[in-house]
Amino acid sequence: MSDEAYIGRALALAERGRGLVSPNPIVGAAVVSASGALAGEGWHEGPGTAHAEVVALREAGEAARGSTLYTSLEPCVHTGRTPPCVEAILAAGVARVVSAMRDPNPIVDGRGFAELERNGVEVRHGVLADEAARQNEAFVKHVRTGLPFVTWKMAASLDGKVAARDGSSRWITGESARADVHRLRAWSDAIVVGAGTALIDDPSLTVREPGYRGRPPLRVLVDGRGRVPATGDLFDDVAPTLVATTDLAPPERRDEWEDSGAEVVVLAAEGDRVPIGELVSLLGKRDLQGVLLEGGPTLAFAAIEEGVVDKVVLYFAPKLIGGVDAPTVLGGRGFAPISSAARLRVRSFDPIGEDLKVEADVHRDR
Ligand SMILES: NC(=O)c1ccc[n+]([C@@H]2O[C@H](COP(=O)([O-])OP(=O)(O)OC[C@H]3O[C@@H](n4cnc5c(N)ncnc54)[C@H](OP(=O)(O)O)[C@@H]3O)[C@@H](O)[C@H]2O)c1
Repeated sequence: MSDEAYIGRALALAERGRGLVSPNPIVGAAVVSASGALAGEGWHEGPGTAHAEVVALREAGEAARGSTLYTSLEPCVHTGRTPPCVEAILAAGVARVVSAMRDPNPIVDGRGFAELERNGVEVRHGVLADEAARQNEAFVKHVRTGLPFVTWKMAASLDGKVAARDGSSRWITGESARADVHRLRAWSDAIVVGAGTALIDDPSLTVREPGYRGRPPLRVLVDGRGRVPATGDLFDDVAPTLVATTDLAPPERRDEWEDSGAEVVVLAAEGDRVPIGELVSLLGKRDLQGVLLEGGPTLAFAAIEEGVVDKVVLYFAPKLIGGVDAPTVLGGRGFAPISSAARLRVRSFDPIGEDLKVEADVHRDR
């Protein structure tokens, strides 16, 4: 098999750790012995557990001597919660290391490769580098900028409505699309929702995915004026909740939120709104790398306008709702003239159950 094929295998192995490893990256590794046999495989299962390379080398045992080690990310050189991988690779007698990408973490950033080469190990990197960077997009963005990677998700009818004119929105899409949303939640560190959605839908924003082993993502309610009482499902004890508000919220409401066990963060109001850019920075400072913005349309427009959204995931159901009073995917005042519209680059569009899923990156050059 080619280097590309084994790196493909390492990338697939890495996926097994998705939703479990934050703030670490997901990583996969494979050891191919000197005789060309697949001798060991591994993936990282979360902070404090062995790195993928070490797991794969352990499985390979003596077959690691003279082998090629394939990794989806540069092996580390630093002692964190576990010893450096480069040491384990050298001790195992690996002859060649092939990696998909350099680790952008400033404490690694090429040092792993340099150390291997200094010790006589042949190194090749950059194999399927784009796929690898995309696989760890939240980790990569956070390490480079300190900001989380924000995915905005919404479910709509084919005419772009996210609820009927009476506010009802359950359910627009079918079971498969809804299960996919739970996967998106499982892969996130925080899930953000606006006051309007909290009042109308009373969402619980929990991960309801069979077999989910990760910790529950932080639920973030954006409610600048304190309109949402602490009686809804967002304030149950199934997952932690943070309320981002301003000093326009009555003190009694803030007390009520805190009494329910939620953390309350008061930010300086922008107009009468929570400053969304500041909120996103605050989440980044807390090492929350992947943020899922679940709307609604008013908050989503503010986030797009502020330039904090990296990726859009839209599910379109084969339904027509219509009605000028029914909310559409994006609210707010909208962009005008047309030349100032937010531009996206479509990543993929796939049928999902009876619905359609569109994933797109937000252009950064707005
Ligand atoms: N189909 C879907 O995927 C989906 C997903 C989510 C929601 N929805 C639907 O969307 C509807 C609710 O949407 P919505 O637009 O009314 O509410 P929203 O976007 O959930 O919340 C907007 C509210 O958040 C508060 N807010 C605080 N800071 C803000 C900021 N910087 N920018 C914008 N808002 C800020 C404001 O409350 P104040 O006015 O008090 O300041 C604002 O009115 C419901 O019908 C719901 O069913 C559908």
